[in-house]
Amino acid sequence: MTGTDNERARKAAEGLAYSSGFGNEHSSEAVPGALPVGRNSPQRAPLGLYAEQLSGSAFTEPRSHNRRSWLYRIRPSAAHPPFVRANRGEIRSAPFTECLPDPNRLRWDPLPAPADPTDFVDGLWTLGGNGDATQRTGMAVHLYHVNASMERRVFGNADGELLIVPERGGLLLRTEFGLLRVEPGHVALIPRGVRFRVELLDAAPGGTGPTARGYVCENYGRPFELPHLGPIGANGLANARDFLAPTAAYEDVEGPVEVVNKFCGHLWTATYDHSPLDVVAWHGNHVPYVYDLRRFNVIGSISYDHPDPSIFTVLTSPSDTPGLAGVDFVVFAPRWLVGEDTFRPPYFHRNVMTEYMGLIEGAYDAKAAGFVPGGGSLHNMMSAHGPDQETFERASAAELAPQKIDDGLAFMFETRWPLTLTEQARDAGHRQRGYDDVWQGLQRHFRP
Ligand SMILES: [Fe+2]
Repeated sequence: MTGTDNERARKAAEGLAYSSGFGNEHSSEAVPGALPVGRNSPQRAPLGLYAEQLSGSAFTEPRSHNRRSWLYRIRPSAAHPPFVRANRGEIRSAPFTECLPDPNRLRWDPLPAPADPTDFVDGLWTLGGNGDATQRTGMAVHLYHVNASMERRVFGNADGELLIVPERGGLLLRTEFGLLRVEPGHVALIPRGVRFRVELLDAAPGGTGPTARGYVCENYGRPFELPHLGPIGANGLANARDFLAPTAAYEDVEGPVEVVNKFCGHLWTATYDHSPLDVVAWHGNHVPYVYDLRRFNVIGSISYDHPDPSIFTVLTSPSDTPGLAGVDFVVFAPRWLVGEDTFRPPYFHRNVMTEYMGLIEGAYDAKAAGFVPGGGSLHNMMSAHGPDQETFERASAAELAPQKIDDGLAFMFETRWPLTLTEQARDAGHRQRGYDDVWQGLQRHFRP
């Protein structure tokens, strides 16, 4: 990766046009007339393109959950040589069997920087997960800390969709559907099966080379959707119009391009004689998108107490049980706290769901120290957690004037099943060994 390549990515990321909305039928063509009108698979597709359907749901799923897109491309995806097994690096997949599920509260510092040039695929480092990728259930938590753009290399994940949460460094995602720019504070979603390349936009703080760091939720289950709003009404939380899909942009590149295919937990690779990012036009609802978390409409109490953190759900992957998510993506965005006679930080609790939390910037209102941007904490099913001692004392004594929480952006992947670690996460040098200590100073105040 050279500065010139970095500059090229930045230029490509300028002024991108998007199509707005969530779950709707988008359509886009990079060349006028490339998109067939009135049918999906004409006898001869326009401009000599191949028509191809990409299914994100079974053909027969109810219309409300049916997902597919039609792609009009220079070559069909079928034109590829055999895939062969490749080194999966530090990527692991469900079922996670390396370690016993651990009831302890766990916390990590940020993933260390790589010593060698490392792109997004090589840099994915799996923390843990649950479910089974082959059964399309559960999820995995990955982190990345990378210093190189993918070059002549494309990635696709048959095992699930990838929710990318950058914490440091902007990314340019060149996808089959077009280009997406995603910065810290935004998230990007790559649907199951969609091919993409990750290029880095920013240099390291104080350094010269590009760098990027962040989190990835791999969702093996039902695709993320917007949560139902119930009595909240027709608007609020993440508004559909703020989700942005790309406009068609294609690569007409001959010559070797490596395609890495994650399939049932392993990486497979094939060298194509062309770029598979060669989609000239497309339409459908199985599309990648980006979302600016600061557009999240935060809803909370204006009397007393505060709602459960489910009120901060951006996206949810439903299970077969109503109200029980395979995984929720939750954001703790800037907001006002006005509750009267209320302990305002997150309350102490034990949760049947499992919570992995990360921090995109600033600080989190339940932890005075130790939970830093790029780091993460895991509170497994039924593990007791809540504010640390310092936060508890401060919040219990605070004078309750209206208060703006605006110095941080934290998020949570909350999942229905316990999350089992990988060995590398359990044994990592950047795992904090003394996390339990943050609750040890909590004094008894009981005076019968
Ligand atoms: Fe919690």
